[in-house]
Amino acid sequence: MNVLANKTIATVCFSLFFGIGGCISAAYAGLEEDMQPCFDCHGKDGASTEPDMPIIGGMSATFINDAMLAYRDEDWPCHETTFPTGPHKGEKTDMCKIAQDLSEKDIEKMSEYFAEKPFVRATQEFDPALAEKGEKIHEEYCKKCHAEGGSVPDDDSGILAGQWMPYIKQSFKDYSSGARPMTKKMKPKYNKLEDADREALLNYYGSFK
Ligand code: HEC
Ligand code: HEC
Repeated sequence: MNVLANKTIATVCFSLFFGIGGCISAAYAGLEEDMQPCFDCHGKDGASTEPDMPIIGGMSATFINDAMLAYRDEDWPCHETTFPTGPHKGEKTDMCKIAQDLSEKDIEKMSEYFAEKPFVRATQEFDPALAEKGEKIHEEYCKKCHAEGGSVPDDDSGILAGQWMPYIKQSFKDYSSGARPMTKKMKPKYNKLEDADREALLNYYGSFK
């Protein structure tokens, strides 16, 4: 079911008076209304408090934009998901349907909006011994593109440090099954991992507070 009307965000102000503060906040006002469904699942400004909804505030605009286009084109798998709160509470949808209801301009603006927000790390339990093991694996295989535990937005590879472990676990499943494609250079590194390595990595990412 389509929950997002195909609205265009008022950008008249932007094109006429780009850079004038008042116009920018007016444009964001309409945008925030359109983003209410995003907030209902991903939390206000993308700071998700639901373990199966990724935190998206503070990721780079490039990563968010690319992710939305990947969902729109169904290049990434879309899992059925239920609104945990808000006016659509209990209704089911998925990210592919959500992205298909948006224009490229909307996607671009929303990506910029979330990129300006802080990445608020999840509060979750982790196993310190496994986290220590995970750090070594990360340093050997992953840090080249996920610097500082995967906490640098400008790497454009998402944020791993402090992300909800259940979401990363699902991403691992999708990578392992081939449902979610990997960039060419991540694949050979990822394919070296055993199940125990993935478990250790999860605990490492979960250890960032
Ligand atoms: C009904 C709940 C729901 C709504 C509404 C929703 N999302 Fe999502 N989103 C998810 C789930 C769940 C995932 C994880 C992927 C999956 O399970 O398919 C996700 C994944 C994402 C990702 C990828 C994050 C990553 O780390 O790879 C981005 C970006 C994203 N959503 C942005 C948005 C934006 C922008 C909106 C609003 C236009 C939105 N989402 C609305 C539930 C939702
Ligand atoms: C050569 C660069 C590269 C290497 C090495 C690499 N990755 Fe990635 N990774 C990326 C890029 C780029 C993305 C974002 C695009 C995508 O999801 O396909 C990504 C995305 C991810 C995501 C999904 C993040 C999200 O929010 O959706 C996870 C999880 C991940 N990588 C884990 C790993 C692990 C674990 C390793 C080490 C075994 C690793 N990566 C090594 C480039 C890399």
